Amino acid sequence: MTNAHRHKSGSQPWLHQKGTEIQPFGTVRQLPIGLSYEARMYACQRLNHLLADTQMLYALYKKHHWLMRGATFHQLHLLLDQHASAQLAVVDALAERVQSLGGVAVGDPRHAAEITSVPRPPDGVEEVPAMLSRLLEAHETILVNARDAAHRLAELGDDGSNDLLVSEVIRGGEAQAWFLAEHLVETPLVRLLPDAEPEAAPIRA
Ligand SMILES: [Fe+2]
Repeated sequence: MTNAHRHKSGSQPWLHQKGTEIQPFGTVRQLPIGLSYEARMYACQRLNHLLADTQMLYALYKKHHWLMRGATFHQLHLLLDQHASAQLAVVDALAERVQSLGGVAVGDPRHAAEITSVPRPPDGVEEVPAMLSRLLEAHETILVNARDAAHRLAELGDDGSNDLLVSEVIRGGEAQAWFLAEHLVETPLVRLLPDAEPEAAPIRA
């Protein structure tokens, strides 16, 4: 036995392995879950689109969490991170739903970027209201697609996907949009009424 053979038959990992693609993107395997091939194909296509959009929303939340500025920096910095974490959980749920239907989930962010409907932000920093508006618009894009997909998937008998879209993508997204939108209401932290004199204790000499 050569040294090379002895080496490989021991506990040495087989490194740098190359393989062929065993399931192309856009196909579904047959799984015994009582849903037709057509329903599972359609569901995977819609869910993958929403998965790509949600990956972009997650990334936008992290970007804006980092780039936030201004008097409410700390509050928004924390809020956007909280929303990002919730969106990451939605990403995982959507991807695993695609897998449970026999499909192939969009995994690579470069692939997600190719199929998303969420516009790319500038690489630099936008003004705070523009950052918040951008997040709201991404939410709305996802909500419109998710509602349409939820209706169609229910019609095809895919109640599991419908439930995921309604309870996590739609309800969660609507709640996050509400929290964001409240930050775009112009309410100064301090404002005097036009005729009011500021009340102050007299200064004693
Ligand atoms: Fe952070």
